[in-house]
Amino acid sequence: MAKNHHVVFKKRPGVNGEPAEDNFGYEECDYPSDPNTGEVLLKTLYLSIDPAMRCRMNPETGVTYIGPFQIGDCIGGFGGVGLVVKSANSAFQEGDVVSAVFNWQWTKFFLGTPGELFPLQKIDSSLVNGHISLYLSILSMTSGLTSYIGVKEKGHITQGANQTMVVSGAAGACGSLAGQIGKLEGCSRVVGICGSEEKCSFLTEELSFDSAINYKTQDVSSELQKLCPSGVDVYFDNVGGDLSNTVIKQMNTNSHVILCGQIAVYNKDVPYPPPIPDDIQRMITDKNITRDRYLVLNYQDKFESGMKQLVEWTVQGKIKVRETIEEGLENAGKAFVSMMKGGNIGKQLVRVAYS
Ligand SMILES: NC(=O)c1ccc[n+]([C@@H]2O[C@H](COP(=O)([O-])OP(=O)(O)OC[C@H]3O[C@@H](n4cnc5c(N)ncnc54)[C@H](OP(=O)(O)O)[C@@H]3O)[C@@H](O)[C@H]2O)c1
Repeated sequence: MAKNHHVVFKKRPGVNGEPAEDNFGYEECDYPSDPNTGEVLLKTLYLSIDPAMRCRMNPETGVTYIGPFQIGDCIGGFGGVGLVVKSANSAFQEGDVVSAVFNWQWTKFFLGTPGELFPLQKIDSSLVNGHISLYLSILSMTSGLTSYIGVKEKGHITQGANQTMVVSGAAGACGSLAGQIGKLEGCSRVVGICGSEEKCSFLTEELSFDSAINYKTQDVSSELQKLCPSGVDVYFDNVGGDLSNTVIKQMNTNSHVILCGQIAVYNKDVPYPPPIPDDIQRMITDKNITRDRYLVLNYQDKFESGMKQLVEWTVQGKIKVRETIEEGLENAGKAFVSMMKGGNIGKQLVRVAYS
């Protein structure tokens, strides 16, 4: 019988604590029994590694839509891609390649019940030339759909309107796609902010970003003044904190913040979205800047059309993706900790098995 392993939640980072590798444990566990009616036995091939997991690591998640991890439990992550090993569900057959956008277990083999809580779908690997991890790095809820729907619903971009877009966390999964989508949707200038020279080169040389700022070594405020001479019309914000306050100060009247995430404050135990300083809030009000909370989960009716557009752009080569792949389920915790510190370019994934 095949051996089975899983990743369990071992230790909380504690209030305002940074996540560490020893928060996770890699353990042998039972191989699942045969599926009961409605269930499928799955083999994990790839796991999506997502910042939102950080909020589940302490008892107070800061949000209402997901609860905390319990110590000793197997990690229930976000997306995953895998193979159906055995099926007792008429919608799936042995050998199907499948994906779910949430509740994929950090386990080599597990039993899943496809449905609302585990939205398992067959994937068409021919659409992505057999590159099935693209179903996590572009064609997934926490990557491409977040970027596409965020830009469409909250960006107010008009072709030919000469708008300037700034993206923070620009070399990550959502940011790298958001900037490219902003350009495709009609922004005349897209500027990315990220944490290394290598990431800046990735944005400007491999993707369609016009310029990039390394927030760790450059003065973001003066660089923005140079690179966005007409101000900022759309800000895709993955980061929050001081960096975002600096961007907001250069935003135009009637401009738009796409409030995607606030990773700079995820290790601080505050409710989401975290409070912003009074002077920044005043500026937002005075300049009529929109900055609504944005949660991709609230747009499930737009997933199908969003997927269609993302597949089209991917097949046409109009959007490009980079993946940072950590090998082995035993390294999933390490991959999460690394991503939270900026170790990834593009989407952080874990490859659990090749086939
Ligand atoms: N609204 C939604 O429905 C939704 C859905 C999915 C994701 N999100 C949010 O989108 C954001 C990006 O998620 P992702 O999966 O694409 O992650 P990601 O950007 O691929 O990875 C996280 C990146 O955040 C940056 N970072 C970490 N700490 C930072 C800090 N203190 N200041 C500035 N940058 C920092 C790092 O890049 P650098 O090297 O540049 O520092 C790191 O690579 C997150 O905030 C996430 O919670 C929101």
